[in-house]
Amino acid sequence: MGNIALSIQDVSKVFTINKQDLKVLNNISLDVSDGEFVSIVGASGCGKSTLLRIVAGLETATNGSVEFNGEKVTGPSSNCKMIFQESRLFPWLDVESNVGFGLDRSVSKDEKRKKAAHYIDLVGLKGFEKAHPKQLSGGMQQRVSIARSLISDPRLVLLDEPFGALDALTKIHMQHEIQRIRQQEKKTMILVTHDIDEAVYLSDRIVVLSERPGSVRQIVSVDLGHPRDRGDDSFTYYKNKILRQFFTKEKGADPDYVI
Ligand SMILES: Nc1ncnc2c1ncn2[C@@H]1O[C@H](COP(=O)(O)OP(=O)(O)OP(=O)(O)O)[C@@H](O)[C@H]1O
Ligand SMILES: [Mg+2]
Repeated sequence: MGNIALSIQDVSKVFTINKQDLKVLNNISLDVSDGEFVSIVGASGCGKSTLLRIVAGLETATNGSVEFNGEKVTGPSSNCKMIFQESRLFPWLDVESNVGFGLDRSVSKDEKRKKAAHYIDLVGLKGFEKAHPKQLSGGMQQRVSIARSLISDPRLVLLDEPFGALDALTKIHMQHEIQRIRQQEKKTMILVTHDIDEAVYLSDRIVVLSERPGSVRQIVSVDLGHPRDRGDDSFTYYKNKILRQFFTKEKGADPDYVI
């Protein structure tokens, strides 16, 4: 892998809820290489979204720091875009305008239209430029949201359960699309997911977090080429390796059994 793009150093996070401290993240350290695809898996409430929000500069760490391309993250940056579970589109704008919204105001109308056309094509929505969000399926809306995030050409794309609300078949299709876009656009991507199949299908590495307060329990490198065959024994091997982490109590334990 290439140069380190993102460096998460000893990040901890404590929230205060009703005057009570709640430790959510505990000493997370992780380096992500330029162009790498890393997934984060872990139990509900272990701090995955909080970690992504800290990386995006939307939340501050209580301790530790995040550096992107050698610079400390102190707030949101155009170099980093986040995609959420729900598409968060503007219902009154058509697809073209929703996608164009991801660009700076200084970009001319003509340039905006040209770029929007490129990214609409990239996510497979050519012909739907003038459609409004409510005229699209959930998967199509999510593709608009992906195009809107990519149009400003961020180096880092953070995905927080982007396909969680989609049906199984659309999800598989979207995973394939993300893999294709990733190869074409060469972005660094971090995906938070509950779906271990999805993590193994897409990732170079999978980070397993412990229960809250989330700490790095194990990092698994997925040594398989693309496209990956979900029916392959090696694919199942990685799925089991991750699953086992959720059924063992001891930190870093990797006992010799298969679920
Ligand atoms: N802004 C906030 N203020 C107070 N507590 C918060 C805030 N955001 C998150 N939390 C708490 O931090 C913990 C972790 O939340 P987070 O959303 O990061 O979990 P998660 O791992 O993404 O869970 P899920 O898989 O369910 O999405 C939760 O217990 C939540 O109550
Ligand atoms: Mg979450």
